[in-house]
Amino acid sequence: MNLQTSIVYLPRPAAKYPGCYPMHFEKRLREILETDDYLHLFAGMATTGLRVDINKNVSPNTIADVHSLPFADNSFDGAMADPPYTPEFARDLYDCEYPKWNMWTLEMLRVVRTGGKIAIMQNYIVPRLPGCDFEEIITILLRIKQYPKIVTVQKKIYGTNGRSKYRKGVTDLPMFMCTPMEEKDE
Ligand SMILES: C[S@@+](CC[C@H](N)C(=O)[O-])C[C@H]1O[C@@H](n2cnc3c(N)ncnc32)[C@H](O)[C@@H]1O
Repeated sequence: MNLQTSIVYLPRPAAKYPGCYPMHFEKRLREILETDDYLHLFAGMATTGLRVDINKNVSPNTIADVHSLPFADNSFDGAMADPPYTPEFARDLYDCEYPKWNMWTLEMLRVVRTGGKIAIMQNYIVPRLPGCDFEEIITILLRIKQYPKIVTVQKKIYGTNGRSKYRKGVTDLPMFMCTPMEEKDE
């Protein structure tokens, strides 16, 4: 597997919204997803792509619940998602239910065309999605004492017309070589 890895340092937040992106992150999205035609799920105060959020106060392009997206199959060339990271964050920061991973990721897969890239931001590497391959892992270092954010980028390799399924017991953790640190004799 040819998995790209990188580490970037983006210490400043882009907005005052809780859990918002680091400043300058969105500028890289076009390059990461290799398209401008992407769906932006859990958009919050994001400014790019077709922004979907359940909270009307963040002025998304589409107010919708990610568990049931109002778009046809294969509508977008890519997708970016930045969900609440824990049930506590969902409740305390956004006053919502913690999104159901299996449901919203399959919805996202349904509306992205085969060959499209999907990026998910979390504090860890997220599992491989059905029909996808890992492409890139980007670690974003933030300020002192803040957990890093990790963007897992995957490519939709085959489409199943919205009938993708998670197989029980399949972990599919990515195996990749990190750049080894140079060993020096003192
Ligand atoms: C981590 S924040 C996103 C922050 C965003 N990246 C930014 O830079 O502002 C998560 C967002 O998910 C939204 N959200 C939570 N549950 C949702 C759901 N079921 N459907 C759509 N949006 C949801 C919340 O309203 C919140 O704006």
